[in-house]
Amino acid sequence: MTPPILVFGSYMHDLSFSMRDFPKPGQTIIGDFKSGPGGKGSNQAVAAARTSVHTAFVGATGEDAFADLAKNFHQEEGVHSKWARREDLATGTAAIFVNDKGENEIVVALGANNSLSSNDIPEEFLSAADIMVTQLECNLDATEQALKKGKAHGITTLLNPAPMRDDFQASILEWVDILVPNETEFVHMVQLRVPESHASFSEESIPALEETDLHDLCRQFGVPTFIITLGSQGCFVSTQDRYFTVPAITDINVLDTTGAGDAFVGGFASGLIQFGGDLEKAAQYGNLVAGLSVTRFGTAPSMPKESEIQSEMSRRDLLLK
Ligand code: RIB
Repeated sequence: MTPPILVFGSYMHDLSFSMRDFPKPGQTIIGDFKSGPGGKGSNQAVAAARTSVHTAFVGATGEDAFADLAKNFHQEEGVHSKWARREDLATGTAAIFVNDKGENEIVVALGANNSLSSNDIPEEFLSAADIMVTQLECNLDATEQALKKGKAHGITTLLNPAPMRDDFQASILEWVDILVPNETEFVHMVQLRVPESHASFSEESIPALEETDLHDLCRQFGVPTFIITLGSQGCFVSTQDRYFTVPAITDINVLDTTGAGDAFVGGFASGLIQFGGDLEKAAQYGNLVAGLSVTRFGTAPSMPKESEIQSEMSRRDLLLK
């Protein structure tokens, strides 16, 4: 067992409510409810594993019923997981609201995720991995240490800066090869990095920019590869020597966009392995995985399986291999 993908990150038990419109402060509304496995790190690991690329995961839970569910779920999904179980802490939970436009609002209680340590990563995972995937849903120091370890082992490191947090420090970027923010996270990072010139920079500013200017902005962060996910517009890729946009798949029935970013990250990591590091093909593959995931309700359970991805690729004449 030598998984080329190593995800270091969060597991949450998702408590998801769907409703026509989000409630206003002080309002009670009637909706529907489902619960299941989630957490950005775990969702990314499941998305990658469902594409049939061996995937390892390192995460932390409490000693509770949600922890047992997490362990069983990863076993069923074939994710090679190492769980740190903290008896004094609760497994992380997420309250998710989804409206009838497929938009979401999420609150996470980190619980045991905040106790995850880079020392929880088994040496054999580090020796086997080609790519390490991280997010910001665990304690940030551990994430930085994990990225450092990844670099020391010659692993390509990816950071999905989600959820963006007030305690985010740009110094973590020193250890990152591939940065994958969404538009909101990108805006936050630009404001942090270049506050004087970009105080008024917002999500609306992104489509108004020429691609060359967006590329120049990405280049200010010193990260070799920058990928901004743009929802239905696909993603923008900026590397040291080129930039391009990869369109999203269209003509889909969007039901729930929760976890779409995770689907992209897991699919993209898998694509990098499958296509020998070809960024454009990996991004196309990530877009396809994300596009299929939003046609179903839920997070990890909505990730598409390899057979479905293959048949969509043939149907759409996407000759990735
Ligand atoms: O990205 C979606 C995920 O964010 C959900 O599964 C929820 O757990 C939160 O972490």
